[in-house]
Parts: sequence; C-alpha cells; structure tokens
Amino acid sequence: MKVKIVLHKDYKISHIDKRIYSSFLEHLGRAIYEGIYEPDHSEADENGFRKDVMKLVSELNMPAVRYPGGNFVSAFNWEDSIGLKEDRPTRLDLAWKSKETNEFGLNEFITWCKKVNTEPIYAINLGTRGIDAARNIIEYCNHPSGSYWSELRIKHGFKDPHNIKMWCLGNEMDGEWQVGHKTAYEYGRLANETAKAMRLFDKNIELVVCGSSSDTMKTFPEWEREVLDLTYDSVDYISMHKYWSNSEDRSDEREIGKHNTTNYLTNSIGLQTYISDVESTINFIKSKKRSKKNIKISFDEYQPWYHSIKKMNTHLNSDIKDWPKAYPILEDEYNLLDCLLIGTVINTFINNSHIVKIACMAQLVNVIPAISTVKNGISWRQSVYYPLYFASLYGRGESLQLKINSPKYSSDIADDVNYVDASAVVNEEKKTLSFFIINRSEEENVDLDFDINNLPIIKIIDQQIINHTSIYASNTINKPNEIVPKKTNIVTFQNENLMAKIPKLSYLFILLKIK
Ligand code: AHR
Repeated sequence: MKVKIVLHKDYKISHIDKRIYSSFLEHLGRAIYEGIYEPDHSEADENGFRKDVMKLVSELNMPAVRYPGGNFVSAFNWEDSIGLKEDRPTRLDLAWKSKETNEFGLNEFITWCKKVNTEPIYAINLGTRGIDAARNIIEYCNHPSGSYWSELRIKHGFKDPHNIKMWCLGNEMDGEWQVGHKTAYEYGRLANETAKAMRLFDKNIELVVCGSSSDTMKTFPEWEREVLDLTYDSVDYISMHKYWSNSEDRSDEREIGKHNTTNYLTNSIGLQTYISDVESTINFIKSKKRSKKNIKISFDEYQPWYHSIKKMNTHLNSDIKDWPKAYPILEDEYNLLDCLLIGTVINTFINNSHIVKIACMAQLVNVIPAISTVKNGISWRQSVYYPLYFASLYGRGESLQLKINSPKYSSDIADDVNYVDASAVVNEEKKTLSFFIINRSEEENVDLDFDINNLPIIKIIDQQIINHTSIYASNTINKPNEIVPKKTNIVTFQNENLMAKIPKLSYLFILLKIK
C-alpha cells in the first residue's frame, strides 16, 4: 500500500510541553513496595530505592511523576506518611484492599524524584478530606521555615522546602467506586474552595481539577461543564483518564481468541474525539464567563488495562480478613498490539499539544506498568515502555501538522481510519526532525513517501523499528527482550527523497538531521 506524509516547517501545531511524557506511581499492588522501594534488594541504595529500576526510569528522561494515587489517595492521610518510619501507622487501604505500612511516604517520594531527576505531581485527598488537609500539606512541603508544618518538615530532615509546583485536586471524583465520590456540584464547590485556599498560600502553583474517569461515564461531558463552571478561575488544568481493553469480555484474562486487532488499534480515533469534546467544553465555559484564561488538559492516566482484570476482581471481591501488603494485582504484561496502541496514543498527545500539556502513563512500575520487577530479582521494560522512550527523548520541540494520504479502513469504533498513524516533531535548537509512525495494517506493508517542504534534510541519524512475528508476544521474566526496538535500514534518503518500507503492524522511529 502506498502512503504519503506531507508537512511544512511553518505549519506548526504548538510547542510541546515536555510533561506529556510523564508517568504515575500509586500505592497499589507492587508499584511502590517491591517496585521502586525494596530495602532488602541487592541493588537497593541507602534509601531502599531499587537502583536497577531508577536506571530504567532515568533512561526515559521522565519530566514528572504523579503520586500517591489514584483511588488510593481518596482515603489517605498524608500525615501518616511522614516522620520516623517506626512511628508511622499501618492502615487499611480501602481502594485496593491491602495493608499500607507507610514505610515509603511523602519525603521518600521527593527524595526518589530527585534521584531520577523528575518533578513531583502530588494528588491531595478530596474524597474523605478537604481544605484543611490541603492547606497543611502545602505548608509542610513548600513553606521555608518558621511555621508549625514547615518546622516539622525540617525536623524530619528536610531543611529546604520541596517546592511542589503541581497539585491534583483529588482523583476521579465522578466515579462511584471512589471513596468520597461526589456529584459535580459537590466536587466543584470543594475543589474551588480548596484551590482558593492553596493559592492564598502561593498563587503560582499549578492546579488540576478532576474531569471524568473516562468518556464512557454517564456523566461525561456534563461533569466537565459543571465542574469547570464552578472552578474556572481557580484552576489551570482539567484531568482526563482513559484505559483501553483488547478483550471483548473484560473479565477474561489473556483470552487471545476474543481479541480484536482491527478495533483495538483504532482507539486513538476515539481518544481524539474525547480530547476534542473536553476542549469544546473548556471553550464553552470560557465563552460563558467572558474569560481570557485558557484551561489546558492534564491527561494524567492512560494505558491498556485488561490482561489482569480477573485477578484484580477476585481479590477485590474476596472476603479476606488479613489484608495483604503489596498484593500483586494489575500486573499486565503488554504485547506488540499494546505497544502499537500506545504509539498512536502518544502521537495523539503530540498532535494535540496545543491543549494537552501533561500526560502520565499509568502506571510506571508493576501496576499496568511500563517497567516490571521481581522481588529480589530482575527488572525489565514492558513493550509500552518503548514508544514513551522514543517520544520523551526525541519528541521535544514543536509538533508539526501532518497531512497523511493513506488508504483507510473502518472498525466498530471509527470509520475512515488511516492505516498509517504518525506525528512529527522539529527541534530548532538541535536541528533535528523526528517521526513516530505506526502501520496499523494487519495485512499490508507500507511504501511511505514524504513531502517535506522547507525542511532540508541532511541525513538520517537513526531509524528503529518495533515489530514481531507474533502480535501477542510480550516481555516476561523469562524473555524480557521479546519486544524491543531494533536498528533498521528500511528508511532511505536518496536524491533528496525520503522513503520508508514499513512492515505490517509495526512502530517506526526516524531521527533526521536538518539544515
Ligand atoms: O491506575 C489504576 C486506577 O485507575 C487508579 O487508581 C484510578 O485513578 C483509575 O481508576
């Protein structure tokens, strides 16, 4: 099949906020304990942080990490997670039916962020708590000294303030599963008053108000309308969350026969509609308020999530009396199709970089993860790690508008879907142009031709491909390198013509040097 990508250097979408390459860590399953924190591990540092995991995180050059939840945060007392470890209480976590020892808490998270060179995004509890807890935690974290909470932080060994810039006002408050679930009115009022109090402390912080948990929620997009109406002047971002399944029956675990590749790989079209709908709702409220302020999107949870649903449901519905610590749930192992889907999802963020300013792959370690670990053992990259890796390292700069002339197909989700999905980023400082390209076709290889007006190419710096003979192949403890990028030579630059021959169902990264 023949496909052409046309672009022009002056047709830019936006400067890309590097935070669209962020991630998320929740006190859930083995994300924290046995994930990033395992004091008895042979590679643990003086803080108990796994150095092997920090290395894999650092390789992602991760701009920001959201923490500590997720559903977990909605019944969490942040004060439990500070001070001497031996004095910290063990609590029951209602969201994931587990025991939280609080050995790893707020200050450990900040220390870990510094070690992996990332910015913290901290979510506060607006489920069971509210303004009082919020004003105290921001004073504890960000006030230099001379007040009750700042002096307590200093006593805990942290002389300098943490200066957390970005805060989430609760998590998925539209969801009935959420402890302290609220109506849009109840939540909007609370979020607004909490935001106002936090801004009285520091007007320069950035605040994210909760949008819907998914576009499939009955209250979407009315939730966004009402919440933004109540909070427009006090917040900076509205959140979006989305998880995808490639199982027609979400209770099935890895039941390959029920997967549907055609539908699955068109989910990014639904994602585009979802983003556009939220953008329209923002604009509606902006008009209604005659405001010049532009609220942006923090897409702070996204990932495939279906391989491990059965085990999670069994655990959450069981009648256990002794709640386990770090029970291994949500440990999806991602295959080639999941990797390709994430490639198209990240392209959608790049192609909407005028409005999507933050995006967090949910999650980072062991829980619907980019990285998996074994207790006392190895750590490895899941297939979804790689599209994030390429985009984070080479997707910084300005996104370019693309005209993709491609044969199209239909799925149950969308009609007129291009077989080829792509995004392009130009970096004027480094004089590079990057392409992230996915061939969605299950049948056909693609002969790709580029029409790159006004962007004189000097040479191809790098080209790497991800594909496999089996679409269900994944990286596991025994085969951690089944799905990995490989150097290729399918891209050629001859007589001023850039061309590529892309195999079916594959991801292609191209890095070019430009004049
Ligand atoms: O990431 C797993 C869960 O998904 C989060 O706790 C919650 O916010 C969402 O429903």
